[in-house]
Amino acid sequence: MGKDATKTLPTHHTASLPPQHIVDLFKVCFDAELYKSDQGVLSAAIQGVKADLYNRDYLAAFNSPEKRTAYCIRWSPSRAIAYASLFSQLRPVREIIKCERNGNASSNVMCIGGGAGGELIGLASIFTPSIDFNAKYATTKSTSQSKELTVKLVDIADWSAVVERLKSSIRDVWLFDHSSDLDVQSLNLNVLKASASDLGVPSLDLITLLFTTNELFMEDKAGSIRFFQMLNNECSSGCYLLIAESAGSYSHITVGAKKFPIQFLIDTLLLGKRGEEAEGPWELVDQNDSIWYRAKDDMDYPLKVENMRFFYRLYRKK
Ligand SMILES: C[S@@+](CC[C@H](N)C(=O)[O-])C[C@H]1O[C@@H](n2cnc3c(N)ncnc32)[C@H](O)[C@@H]1O
Repeated sequence: MGKDATKTLPTHHTASLPPQHIVDLFKVCFDAELYKSDQGVLSAAIQGVKADLYNRDYLAAFNSPEKRTAYCIRWSPSRAIAYASLFSQLRPVREIIKCERNGNASSNVMCIGGGAGGELIGLASIFTPSIDFNAKYATTKSTSQSKELTVKLVDIADWSAVVERLKSSIRDVWLFDHSSDLDVQSLNLNVLKASASDLGVPSLDLITLLFTTNELFMEDKAGSIRFFQMLNNECSSGCYLLIAESAGSYSHITVGAKKFPIQFLIDTLLLGKRGEEAEGPWELVDQNDSIWYRAKDDMDYPLKVENMRFFYRLYRKK
């Protein structure tokens, strides 16, 4: 999918479970809040998160268990179906998730700002259908047939309670006795203050930074630049980095007296100065400056399922 190719992602790519199955996982996971408890409590928490996001007070948006659960229920289903489509569409990303890259039966993925579970469910929706559920009858789990996808969710907010619930639902609804093939770890830390070894950066096959880069730059511009420089130094050759963020002026950044799209700054940090692209430690594999994911109108979910318009960049470490 090149720069000028279609500007709408497919609603469903066959590498993943269908969007309705993805959304159904959230219905099972949050059955209590969605169908059994006082709806006023959930709507009040959603309104609180919405107000904080509108004011770009991101730390406040995720500062209580009720708000984190509300964010996951309201927004992560929309993210998960869009990410399932995006990840599937990008061949290297799809192969890493299916543990089919370069003959490796294991892959190591880190999702920065991924505590809310959208990335996790998008990843699991591709990993699950890649498993041969019948093989377990012919062979034991200890044979070379088994795969392992390790997913590290790194987040400054403590999403562990939400992630534990999502993990249980993945186990109960999708992976059953293959649950241990998906190793999900929550790392509750500020990525801008963490070292490469805290994060296990050299062993990663894929890093995602989805709808999180803007927040990092708003929190600490110099720290964010240092963080990208750390990735330049510490990621192994062949590691992929996927960045997505809202398309348009929402993702503009001010440096000195100038305001420009954040992807220009990231490109400069990773690829080198414009006109000298070959100099930087990463190569740009795929990109789109404005792409839509539109959910089908007939999705069955008690809350709104959002369409998303975003830019993305996929880089590969040289
Ligand atoms: C707008 S949310 C996006 C969540 C998710 N990636 C998605 O697409 O739905 C940004 C996330 O980044 C996290 N975050 C913000 N600053 C961070 C930092 N310095 N280190 C780690 N995580 C951070 C927030 O706690 C939040 O979970």
